[in-house]
Amino acid sequence: MTPRARARAEVLKDEAPFALECGRSLQGLTFAYETWGRLNRRRDNAVLLFHALTGSAHAASHGTGDEPGWWESLIGAGRPLDPARYYVVCANVLGGCYGTTGPASQNPETGRPYGADFPVMTTRDMVRAQRLLLDRLGVGHLALVIGGSLGAMLTWRWLVDYPDSARAGIAIAGTPQASPWAIALNAVAREAITSDPAWRGGDYESPGPDSGLALARMIGMISYRSGRQFGERFGRQRADSCPDRRFCAENAFLVERYLKHQGEKLTQRFDARSYVLLTRAMDLHDVADRHPTLEAALAPIRARVLAVGIDSDVLFDPTEISGAVQILKRFGADAAYGAIRSAFGHDAFLVEYPQLNTLVSSFLEGRALCEF
Ligand code: COA
Repeated sequence: MTPRARARAEVLKDEAPFALECGRSLQGLTFAYETWGRLNRRRDNAVLLFHALTGSAHAASHGTGDEPGWWESLIGAGRPLDPARYYVVCANVLGGCYGTTGPASQNPETGRPYGADFPVMTTRDMVRAQRLLLDRLGVGHLALVIGGSLGAMLTWRWLVDYPDSARAGIAIAGTPQASPWAIALNAVAREAITSDPAWRGGDYESPGPDSGLALARMIGMISYRSGRQFGERFGRQRADSCPDRRFCAENAFLVERYLKHQGEKLTQRFDARSYVLLTRAMDLHDVADRHPTLEAALAPIRARVLAVGIDSDVLFDPTEISGAVQILKRFGADAAYGAIRSAFGHDAFLVEYPQLNTLVSSFLEGRALCEF
């Protein structure tokens, strides 16, 4: 699979070796990124936006005729991240497959794709790479750092590793530490990929481990939604194609067919090696890894923080998110918890725009947060 490069993504290369936490280095980085708005004269209106696991730099369209992005409703004229006010930067993450250096990139030392030889990376490496990109773009202090899911984990990491670098942070549906539950789900998804014979230790060319990646996505999709949402949306409905409605052996239920469709769809646009690498980085994610406790890690955060949890999220427990806010408050930080009420589950951060936009705008404008 070759992920389709977004036409609008800009490319920036940094030739210097980039040292990773694991002790290995990458021989220079390539970043694919997109921007909305302009950096103002005071250089104080920059927003760094982190995408989720299979996302890209294309968070929003750049005008008529352009493809909508994954956070279209949040970025644009009259929206919470209005380009007339903010300079929004979104880059494909390190290890991804939408233009930034990742396992499918060519290793300059061998002239071949890194494949399985791509080093293990951490969320610390990922934010440090984006710090480098911002330096190259002339951005120092940020008005805001924001992200959802993996993007929220990166937001927490940014706030801990660069405590004085942003006026505000918004972490949506993501925690400061990966939970054993999330690690377990990622482990099964990776197993699905690596046990596909086409995985070949990660050194495949085309075709890759499509059935393994599709299965990983199916597992992921179950955790991105909720039992209630599947119940309301599909119920026990059968697929019309099932000739014997009671005893059809395969794809009998709509929910089953839906998961299959989502799995197959991901194989058209995502690289299994990035899936394995990025889920591993999520598992390793723990902002307290160089601190005695989570409290000690969060204590130095100086930014105003909004952390948003989704009541039906079975992947990132909202009580862990509100718990982090409680810690911040105990240390005197200006922190708030925002709740999204939805049957959608984790994916509510990509769907429940009226609630999300109200929370983000209220927080940015310093208004009291309304509870939904
Ligand atoms: N059988 C087969 N296919 C079905 C189906 C069924 N019973 N029911 C719906 N579908 C298909 C639709 O035909 C449509 O196909 P297409 O995308 O190829 O056109 C697709 O499912 C619609 O997807 P759906 O999940 O229903 O969209 P949604 O409106 O529920 O969700 C988003 C919207 C934005 C959440 C979703 O599009 C998305 O981006 N998901 C990404 C999930 C993700 O990565 N989450 C982040 C985790 S970190």
